[in-house]
Amino acid sequence: MIKIENLNKFFKSFQALKDINLLVEKGELFAYLGPNGAGKTTTIKILTGLTKYSSGKVSLNGYDVKKEGLFAKEQCGVVPQSINLDQELTVFENLDIHGRLYKIPKKKRDFRINELLEYLEVADRKDSLAKQLSGGLKRRVMIARALVHSPRILFLDEPTVGLDAAIRKRIWAIIKRIQQDGATIFLTTHYIEEAEYLAQRVAFLNEGSIVENDTPKNLVDRMGAWAVDKVVDNQLKTSYYKKREDASAYTACQNTDCMLRRVNLEDSFLSLTGKKVK
Ligand SMILES: Nc1ncnc2c1ncn2[C@@H]1O[C@H](COP(=O)(O)OP(=O)(O)OP(=O)(O)O)[C@@H](O)[C@H]1O
Ligand SMILES: [Mg+2]
Repeated sequence: MIKIENLNKFFKSFQALKDINLLVEKGELFAYLGPNGAGKTTTIKILTGLTKYSSGKVSLNGYDVKKEGLFAKEQCGVVPQSINLDQELTVFENLDIHGRLYKIPKKKRDFRINELLEYLEVADRKDSLAKQLSGGLKRRVMIARALVHSPRILFLDEPTVGLDAAIRKRIWAIIKRIQQDGATIFLTTHYIEEAEYLAQRVAFLNEGSIVENDTPKNLVDRMGAWAVDKVVDNQLKTSYYKKREDASAYTACQNTDCMLRRVNLEDSFLSLTGKKVK
């Protein structure tokens, strides 16, 4: 369980997080979405003990991140936004160092690492240097590394950024499997369809404040069922309808090309954060 109460974070006079309150239940896959600079990574850094917060309270599985930092850290694994593997070490060595930091005995460590490399389908690259791997493989190795000490909570900060569609889907399957194995997952992504597919619940963060927190279905339903896109003065305008016949009637009386489609989570995201996604 992840609990955030009245969390504020200032960088000098700039307030990056404004009174954040969140509760992520045990075993839930929670997506934390927002435009560039909204404060997603800052939140993850605070939850994982990498950045201090200015005020509020945060805990992981009941352990206070400030007062019981070591216990809280043991609860979680983190896949950071930027690739931070040791490029001159092999895949195995990268995971092994992580296991040593958590003081896992050698026999248990070797077993766990080999098991994870199979799980993430990178076992055949065990002895490759990290720098020799493609972006997709590096992301998978980072996920494996975060799981070495069997954390109950996994933070994934844009785990599929820059990956092709096929590899992204493979990582989605891996994320689902990690959740099915009992972990709580806190995910950030700019691919809104990724959150719509994976998450039970979604929060939208905008300029440091949570503007919405609900299930993807409720967020989509609130927009309507059907959307009509049309380009007016080089700008995309979208209208929303509950009934398909109303959307079709609107489309029929337009003199520009229109596209009728189902409403999706990206519509909700754009209407609530008012910004374009990547
Ligand atoms: N160390 C720092 N010093 C000063 N300002 C910072 C620092 N780290 C982050 N910020 C600012 O805090 C805000 C939130 O940044 P953060 O990295 O959390 O955003 P994000 O939602 O993860 O964005 P992105 O989608 O681009 O990764 C931004 O305005 C950023 O410039
Ligand atoms: Mg970020």
